[in-house]
Amino acid sequence: VVEARKAAQGAADLAALRQALADFPHCDLRHGARNLVFSDGVAGAPLMIVGEAPGRDEDRQGKPFVGRAGQLLDRMLAAIARDRARDVYITNVLPWRPPQNRDPRPDEIAMMQPFLQRHIELAAPKLLIVMGNISCQALLGRRGITRLRGNWEEVQGLPAMPMFHPAYLLRTPSAKREAWADLLQIRAKLEKT
Ligand code: URA
Repeated sequence: VVEARKAAQGAADLAALRQALADFPHCDLRHGARNLVFSDGVAGAPLMIVGEAPGRDEDRQGKPFVGRAGQLLDRMLAAIARDRARDVYITNVLPWRPPQNRDPRPDEIAMMQPFLQRHIELAAPKLLIVMGNISCQALLGRRGITRLRGNWEEVQGLPAMPMFHPAYLLRTPSAKREAWADLLQIRAKLEKT
């Protein structure tokens, strides 16, 4: 983690951060992945979304949230008149796909945390969506999305909204009601910033 902190802090811009991850040898997940999945959308956008980790489609394409969960995410953004091609920036806690999409281990999350922190600094959004339990672990230091969602937190001085992950919403459509309520809070906050 000391090495990760050094590598992340040394990156002066997003391109350098991406390169620092590409060159970072101390996370074994990289060996099982096809591609580094760094980000998508518009750097500098007011809204930044932090997901969990690439799945199969993301690993193949080298872009976050392009599979089924990503398609739902795009619809959720469209519902609040946001578009990743125009005004959203998206990344994940982990830049490499875990084998068989297993949950990332606490040590893997801790190793990538300095990179994520630097990523947020350099992307400089106005507010964050913390998508699912893995991101809550990485950014808030705790899990429990069912209790956390719907309430603003603060991450690196920014308002941050924990939300149900779209992959969870695909499995549990009844939770879309809560997700919709959270999106409305995000829209209202974006209009004020
Ligand atoms: N789920 C995530 O958390 N991130 C992705 O990029 C894709 C699916």
